[in-house]
Amino acid sequence: MTQGKLIYEGKAKKVYETDNPQLLIQEFKDDATAFDATKRGTIKDKGICNNKISAHLFGVLETHGITTHFVRLLSERQMLVQRLEIVPVEVTVRNIVAGGMAKRLGLDEGKKLPNPVLEYHYKNDALHDPLINNYHIFALGLAQEKELGDISRYSFEINEILQEFFGQRRLVLVDFKLEFGRHKGKITLGDEISPDTCRLWDKATNKKLDKDRFRRDLGGIEQAYQEVLRRVLS
Ligand code: C5P
Repeated sequence: MTQGKLIYEGKAKKVYETDNPQLLIQEFKDDATAFDATKRGTIKDKGICNNKISAHLFGVLETHGITTHFVRLLSERQMLVQRLEIVPVEVTVRNIVAGGMAKRLGLDEGKKLPNPVLEYHYKNDALHDPLINNYHIFALGLAQEKELGDISRYSFEINEILQEFFGQRRLVLVDFKLEFGRHKGKITLGDEISPDTCRLWDKATNKKLDKDRFRRDLGGIEQAYQEVLRRVLS
């Protein structure tokens, strides 16, 4: 597999073309940003952890029948993925109130929700990823009705699979963000699943083992990512 042109560089990842137009290389960086990139930093070896954690979780989801863009790991920081036509919608699934939901609705962080809450955010940095609903998505032509039906169904299924997976590893899946795209006409999970995109709390102590340690200056960030990697691979 030959690495080609850099086609995207985001806050935490770089994406390269390959000699196969259908395949891309996704590379995970140690850079971290928060609060609309107003806070910036580096978390040592975060890219290595997130690459390995995402690869493992994509594999778990595939065994449960979820189609993902993951093909295989290439190196410590790189994975080979299918090229997707990205749906510009970030899907958030919440099991416990935290972060944006606590703030937006004036709720206490840590309250267990009676049902999982699904949110859509329009993927648009200039607009700060605003909260939208299915009507906005259709009106803006971001996805078709059938596609959004698949996206929401897969998101709830992924939540069930991941809650079970993390639960067995003494981790509580508080919330997480997913991104989907189209591949050969099928809605396919893309992006990453890592402590950058999930809130994970230790089951016994509620200790935060995710990017909130960076956002809130809680310290022990590197150790938290390593701990999640250790448990995911256990
Ligand atoms: O900030 P908020 O509470 O909306 O985040 C919900 C979940 O989505 C968290 O797990 C957070 O890490 C993730 N997220 C993300 N990328 C964003 C916004 C949120 O991965 N741009």
